[in-house]
Amino acid sequence: MYRVFYDSVLRHLPPEAAHRGAFWLIRAAAQVPGAAWAGQKALGSRDPVLRVRAFGLDFPGPLGLAAGFDKDGEGVLGLAALGFSFIEVGTVTARPQPGNPRPRMFRFPDERALVNRMGFNNHGAYALSARLRALRAQWGAQPGAKPVIGVNIGKSKAVPEENAVADYKASARVVADVADYVVVNVSSPNTPGLRDLQAVGKLRPIMIGVRDALDEGSPRRRVPLLVKIAPDLADEDIDAIADMALDLGLDGIIATNTTISRDGLADSAAVADAGPGGMSGAPLKQRSLAVLARLHDRTGKRLVLIAAGGIETAADAEARLAAGATLLQAYTAFIYQGPFWPHRVQRDLAARLRSGKMTSLLGPDGLAWDNSGMSEISSSNLSAVAVYCGSNLGSEPAYAAGAAALGRVLAERGIRLVWGGGQVGLMGSVADAVLGSGGQAFGVITQALKAKEVAYQGLAELQVVATMHERKAVMADAADAFVMLPGGFGTFDEFFEVVTWTQLGIHAKPCGILDVGGYFGALRTMLDAAVTAGFVRQAHRDMIIVDDDPGRLLDRLAAWTPVTVGKWLDRADR
Ligand SMILES: Cc1cc2nc3c(=O)[nH]c(=O)nc-3n(C[C@H](O)[C@H](O)[C@H](O)COP(=O)(O)O)c2cc1C
Repeated sequence: MYRVFYDSVLRHLPPEAAHRGAFWLIRAAAQVPGAAWAGQKALGSRDPVLRVRAFGLDFPGPLGLAAGFDKDGEGVLGLAALGFSFIEVGTVTARPQPGNPRPRMFRFPDERALVNRMGFNNHGAYALSARLRALRAQWGAQPGAKPVIGVNIGKSKAVPEENAVADYKASARVVADVADYVVVNVSSPNTPGLRDLQAVGKLRPIMIGVRDALDEGSPRRRVPLLVKIAPDLADEDIDAIADMALDLGLDGIIATNTTISRDGLADSAAVADAGPGGMSGAPLKQRSLAVLARLHDRTGKRLVLIAAGGIETAADAEARLAAGATLLQAYTAFIYQGPFWPHRVQRDLAARLRSGKMTSLLGPDGLAWDNSGMSEISSSNLSAVAVYCGSNLGSEPAYAAGAAALGRVLAERGIRLVWGGGQVGLMGSVADAVLGSGGQAFGVITQALKAKEVAYQGLAELQVVATMHERKAVMADAADAFVMLPGGFGTFDEFFEVVTWTQLGIHAKPCGILDVGGYFGALRTMLDAAVTAGFVRQAHRDMIIVDDDPGRLLDRLAAWTPVTVGKWLDRADR
């Protein structure tokens, strides 16, 4: 349907007019009482497999709207209602400015690309701040859509480079308390000299200044800070920015903005007619991916990487996640593919993640968290640890690897493993892995699992117990600590069962949660329930193990350093 509308109406309008018209429609629809709420219910990401936690924020899914579409924050509710999991507004500048003369946006539909030289047309940071403040005040009264909102800031055109730090700081200060995160944009090709600010000698003071301004503007909440880079940087410059970001403790990098290259556009006359500007869309795909991969090589999981540039399909999205992105953004594909595109991509991505190998969406929080103050847990007072396997995972290899790691560490310390669960495929592969690690395991399994006896011949003892509650009770009796491999949590039901665990007396034992699959969002929800239910206690929380990487998990377990309880749990404890 959108195709028909696009072909019959939108493509005959000048691109910017089409954009304005479509955006007006989105905003108007969101004004209809209940529409934004209904839209988000129908189109928003609700599959737990898609949830992401990054720089301390929870995202219902990984796909957000890239900066530039909603420069002044006028349509966030409508855009979120279409299924975007977060909205980055801006770029705004400290001073309002009109941008470049029109025409300044050009379509290349055959290549699914755009060229633009908008030049940061925007109403200014103050106006944006006031608008977002009013919106947030409204949310207090309004049920439904509350998207994560990032604010992207740039340099005012009229401000000379030597005053850039002060100009960025001015924007940062006024948006600090209304932005869920802030992005410093030094990568638009459409403000003269802007991209020169990517040289670390110039970028460093800007980032330091903006950090200070955010802390001043938002003294009670630390606002995550990211930088957005161009795809046209040389490899050494990418590395230098990555190193600087780590050095300054930035929260992440967005890779990438538009390119000045025209590679991939066939019609050279149309290219010449369009003139200067940044190219976005499909032809940018490979280069943006390469920049992302390079950043990931350099920073590992120490920074949140947000991928942007030519993301069109769920396969593209998955490829970016596999290359190290935690979150994704897009603009051009939304223009060409229409209002239901964000919903489709996230829906298809969920299906891919569930069917194939599971790509972890867990952000780097696990590493970034401050674990100081966490006491070391010594294994010496443990003689047996029960590990309960959640369901839904099939033979997820990460779980098997995590379980094997756990089994190995316990075996080395002479700790008996009490192993149980209900799911055939998972238990098969995980039990094999545990036994392969040399552990002595006491199995508590179902009749159906018993039928697959071949997988359990190495178990020292085996007890067949029919119901889940009984299995857990037997395991809790036999062990002095309890570890949960949480499983898929398609519906959260499994973990809400923790409430019943309290009735089983498991809550009297230290509890660990081994999250090797990266279901962090689910884990958090569940642990909130567990804390409320009194299942996870202050004294026991150090046992909670959250990780998504069996390799790192192994290191952690080998040291039996306990590990990563996130700040959110601290919050829950207060
Ligand atoms: C018309 C247009 C305007 C844009 N304006 C901004 C902007 O103001 N700030 C910014 O950081 N990026 C801006 N971008 C870049 C996008 O946020 C994104 O990084 C880029 O287009 C690559 O993603 P895509 O291929 O999915 O469009 C703009 C892109 C387009 C097409």
